[in-house]
Order: sequence, then C-alpha cells, then structure tokens
Amino acid sequence: LVEKVWHDRKCICETLCNGLSRLEYRGYDSAGIGIDGDKPDETFLFKEVGKVAGLRKRIAESTLDTSKTFVSQVSIAHTRWATHGVPSIVNCHPLRSDPSAEFTLVHNGIVTNCAELRQVLQKRGYNFESETDTEAVAILTKYIYDSQPDKRLSFTDLVKTVLTELEGSFAFVFKSIHYPNELVTARRGSPLLIGVKTEKKLKVDFVDVEFSGDPSEAKPDLLSSATTGRLLAPPSNSHIYRSQSRAFMSEDGLPQPIEFFVASDASAIVEHTKRVLYLEDDDIAHIAAGELHIHRLRRRDDGSQSPSQAAATRSIETLEIEIAEIMKGKFDHFMQKEIYEQPESVINTMRGRVNFDDHKITLGGLRQYLHIIRRGRRIVFIACGTSYHSCIATRAIFEELTEIPISVELASDFLDRKTPIFRDDVCVFLSQSGETADTILSLRYCLERGALCIGVVNTVGSTISRETHCGVHINAGPEIGVASTKAYTSQYIVLLMMAIQLSEDRISLQERRKQIIDGLHALPGQIKKVLALDKLLQQLATTQLVSSRSLLILGRGLQYATCLEGALKIKEISYMHSEGILAGELKHGPLALIDENMPVIIIMTRDSLYPKVKNAFAQITARKAQPIIICNEGDTSIPDGATTIRVPETVDALQGILNIIPLQLLSYHLAVKNGFDVDFPRNLAKSVTTE
Ligand code: G6P
Repeated sequence: LVEKVWHDRKCICETLCNGLSRLEYRGYDSAGIGIDGDKPDETFLFKEVGKVAGLRKRIAESTLDTSKTFVSQVSIAHTRWATHGVPSIVNCHPLRSDPSAEFTLVHNGIVTNCAELRQVLQKRGYNFESETDTEAVAILTKYIYDSQPDKRLSFTDLVKTVLTELEGSFAFVFKSIHYPNELVTARRGSPLLIGVKTEKKLKVDFVDVEFSGDPSEAKPDLLSSATTGRLLAPPSNSHIYRSQSRAFMSEDGLPQPIEFFVASDASAIVEHTKRVLYLEDDDIAHIAAGELHIHRLRRRDDGSQSPSQAAATRSIETLEIEIAEIMKGKFDHFMQKEIYEQPESVINTMRGRVNFDDHKITLGGLRQYLHIIRRGRRIVFIACGTSYHSCIATRAIFEELTEIPISVELASDFLDRKTPIFRDDVCVFLSQSGETADTILSLRYCLERGALCIGVVNTVGSTISRETHCGVHINAGPEIGVASTKAYTSQYIVLLMMAIQLSEDRISLQERRKQIIDGLHALPGQIKKVLALDKLLQQLATTQLVSSRSLLILGRGLQYATCLEGALKIKEISYMHSEGILAGELKHGPLALIDENMPVIIIMTRDSLYPKVKNAFAQITARKAQPIIICNEGDTSIPDGATTIRVPETVDALQGILNIIPLQLLSYHLAVKNGFDVDFPRNLAKSVTTE
C-alpha cells in the first residue's frame, strides 16, 4: 500500500510480480494480482495458471493502461498451492465477493468450516464461481457489509466480524472498493509480516497493539443467525486512538511519504525495505492514511495466547537477509547453489559458537535453559521431511553424550497419536522454514502441556522461532530449492553442538567431545573435497542410473538417516522410486527385491558397524547385485572393480554429513538429465503451511 508516493501502474504491477517471483521457490501452481481500476469503484484482477512469468505475459498482453499514476493505492497479489480446488484461473487468488469485486482478498491457509459458510451464503442467494475456501470468506465479507443497514462499520471491524466466523488457519489481505486506499490484513496460524519503507529514519521502532472490544461478543454467530434469520449487529466499541508510534513520523517529528508491504515471507519484499514487523496470531492490521494500526481479534486476557502474543507492541526489526543471497548467481539451479554453499553454510552455523582451541561449544540461545534440559525426563525431537532425518541422524550421538533418552517424532504422527507429553519433557522442534503447519501444531500442543519447547530453525522471525521458549538458529542462509540440502547439514551440526554443550560437565566424555569438535574444524575442507566428486556423480547419474525405475540405498547405524535422506532427495526431484533401507532389516524383506537388475547404493564408510555392513554387502552381491559403494578414501578392503564414491574419513558422528552430499548431487543430476524442474518439483512445496 502506497501513501503519498507517486507510482504508475506499470511500476505497481512489476512490484507485485517481482514479489511473487521471489516466493515461487515455495513451489506454487498459479498466480494473480488485484489492482485499483480506472474508476474509484473498480478493481482489476489478472490471474494465470502456472508460473509468475505467465502472469506477467497476461498483464503485458492486456489492454491495461499502465501509464496511469496513483498517489495512494492498494494492490494485492498471491501465488497459490491448491488446497481446495484444482489449479485453475477461477480458483486462483485474489478471490472476489461478486463480479464487481466489491471485496477482493488473498489468503494463505485453510478455512476448515468453509463448507458450512458456503451453504449458508448460497441459501441467502450468493453465487460462488470457484471451489475455494477463500471465496467463501470474500462473500461472507460482502454479506456482513450488506447486512448492516447504515454501512457504518470500519474496515477493521468488518474484517474482525468476518474472522470471528472462521475456523482453520489463515493469513489474509483484504481490499475493497468500499474502503478505497485502505488495507486490512490478519493472521491466525499462517505467517505474515509488514514491511515499512520511508525516506527518513522512523522516530520509533515499534507499533502499539490496540486492545479493544471484541465484536464477537456483540453479535450473534453467523451460523446460528442464519437459522434464526437475525441480522448481524455491528460490533461494539473498537476505539481507535492515535499515537506517534503509528503515524510513522520521521526522527525530525514530521510525517513522511510511506509505503507498506505485506507479505508471508521476507524474501518477497526485501528488495524494497528491510524494516519489518511480524504480526502475531490474531493480530489484525489496518493501514490507511499513512498509519498502521494493529488490533487484536481476541482480548488480551482471554488466556489462549502465548506470552509473545499478549505483548503490547510489535517491534520494527531490521532484516539481515540480502537480495544477493536469494539469487542463483553462477549456478543453474538454487538447489545446486545450495549444495555448493555447504562449506560456507556449515561455518556460518558454527560461527561464534565453537571454540576450536578450548574445545568448547556455547549456544547462547540455550544457556539459561541447560539445567532444565539436563533435568528433563527425556528429549523429544519433532519435525517433518528432511528436518526429521536430521534428528534420526544425530539421535545416537545425542544419547551417547547426554545419556538422556531421545525420541524422534514425525510431527503429523505425533499429533495423530495425541502423544503423552509432560511438564518435565523437553521438546525440540526442527524446521528449516519455521512455518511447517504440523510442526507448529505440535509445538502448540507441547506448550499447552507445559513442556520446555526449543526451536531449531533457519528462518529468523518465523512462527516456530517466535513461539518456542528458546532455541538456536541454524544460520544456513535462505534455502530456496524445494528439496532441502544445506539446511540438513546445518541442522545436523546444531543438534551435535547441542549434545556437546549439554554434556560439558561429563569429564569422562571430554576426549569424545574433543574428537567431534576437531572433526567440525576439518569439515568445511572435507565438504569441498566431496563436492569435487561432482563430475563423477554426474556421470554415474547420467549413465548408470538415469533409466532405472527404482533405487535402493542401504546402510545402518549412523548412516541409516543418510539412506533415508538420500532416498527422499531422489524421490523429491527425480521422481524415481527410491527407498532407504536399514541393512539390519535386509533379511526381513528387502532382500527379496535384490537381483542383477536392481540398482543399489550401499554406504560402507568406516565406523563400528563396518563389519556388519560388509555382511550386508556380501548378501546382496551373492544375489548378483552390483552396488555403487560410498566408502572412505583409501579403503583397500573394497573389492577391485566395484563402482565406488570415495569420501574423506571423519569422526563417526560427522560422517553422515560427508556421505549425504554425493546423494544430493546424484539426485540433482538425475533430475537435470530427465529435464525436470529441479527447484520446483511437481506437487511439492518448500513450506507446507497447511496440515
Ligand atoms: C517440505 C519441504 C521439505 C522439508 C519439509 C519440512 O516437505 O519440501 O524440503 O524438509 O517440508 O520443512 P521444514 O521447513 O519444517 O524443515
């Protein structure tokens, strides 16, 4: 939303499309924008299925007068990943309340009671054009607007009334021809931030939260009113007061031209401003006339809020993300860039935390909580996808160093089982994005039960980083490729660092800690050596594996997680069936799959289980398999003539980091060779913000 800054429509459309392009890495299937029309009561919508490039083309080929200038206007845009209805132009956002687009909105999340709302609204004569839950909200907004006889509701109160009818999770941006140059945005369960762009420095770096009456108290519920036929009463006293904090005065006390950017992810707006404030669940922000007001949907004392949500201000923070960091640079794909970044990203993860001389590790975010963690009855790691694999990879070392029992949970299953959690449990939530819905719901579940909740996330300011009691950022830098690579190796290191710090009082483990810390020191150089195998891996992928229909990856002990993660990478981007198999389970089924035609990769790096893996190797070669072997440089016991991928040897605790990189590269080359979209694999999203 722009205030007192002249922009032409071309610039507005470009700003919107550029923001959407920056979000494409999340893997979405259609894109659209809603902008002010030529007349005050008009909104123009442009939508296209597929990538943002298609939307740009559609706008460029339209008859839109792109030279028209605005001094104040509201525009909205969205890229979508279908939850209700197939990817299509009608289902694409922005969604409108009616053909003249009195209300238009964009939405992330799922409204779970949309079927009921739809039914009620259809009974009242409203027509739906899409299959989306979002359209029900647009129409509900119009219905409530139409229902008030004197049309006195402020835009904020109107939206508050709408939101009290909704169940599920959402981040919305509302635009309306009835409230020109005003924007309302709100969140519950989905991320939302507001960027503020001004010429001069702001006088204050926070915005007050205005705690006011809750409209839901003043009106009957829509669904019950539908049965009784009563109309909704306008909400009560939402009093607005003005303070300098919301007028965005500059330091010299003068109001100044201002642009506000609302987004679900900082990368969409970072090229315009680095000054952002993060909204909390149940915040409703209203932006108009150069002011930003933040209201609450529920009252401050309703008891359902986490401590940060009850805070009376939202601070304006400065983003540290650089636009260059989210660009591809010299690489063909983000995933390739991210694989190659690992020598630096692991250093960034350790920076300021590992003292290689004293062999000490300090994770500042956990310092005050160490005694609680050590006293806990157990530690529960909870995550999804690749983040889950980093937990499996480090569980054994964690248990060895801390002697605390560890359980590892897939967030969705953890919730499905309603897993018992107690006050003396310590729950660790791992997430690259910090926005994965199942992980967030698991976090809230554990918070409610009084457990200590620790976040291990990459994205600063994300929901998990804000709602946990304490935590560690993995500092891997933005990860854009949908298939996670550098986040995995950094999560792995953070978990090991946690275990080392927790065990610092144990004299008997001093040598072991020293060995791992020395290993960490050598790791970046060793990763570079693995990356130097890229040509060999490309050759293996393109000659030996590309036409296979399936690929088994075999290993045990600390390398079981490497098998699972390697197989996940291959599935995700090369669409080839692949399975990570625990070598100890070979005889319990998978051996039946083995013959001379079944491609197998076996991980045979040196650790205490090496003899057992050699047994597995003997079993599969006896069935004529010709496995590709991931082994250590200089291992002379590997049979002559075998296809090997030789990686440097490190301490057992860290070997999994070096072993996963060849599998990341193999999956990459398989996908490229097949002509698949490496960064945006079909049907997948980077950040799964719905259950
Ligand atoms: C999606 C992504 C995966 C990621 C998983 C968990 O499935 O495609 O790459 O591992 O979500 O995401 P998180 O952000 O919580 O680590």
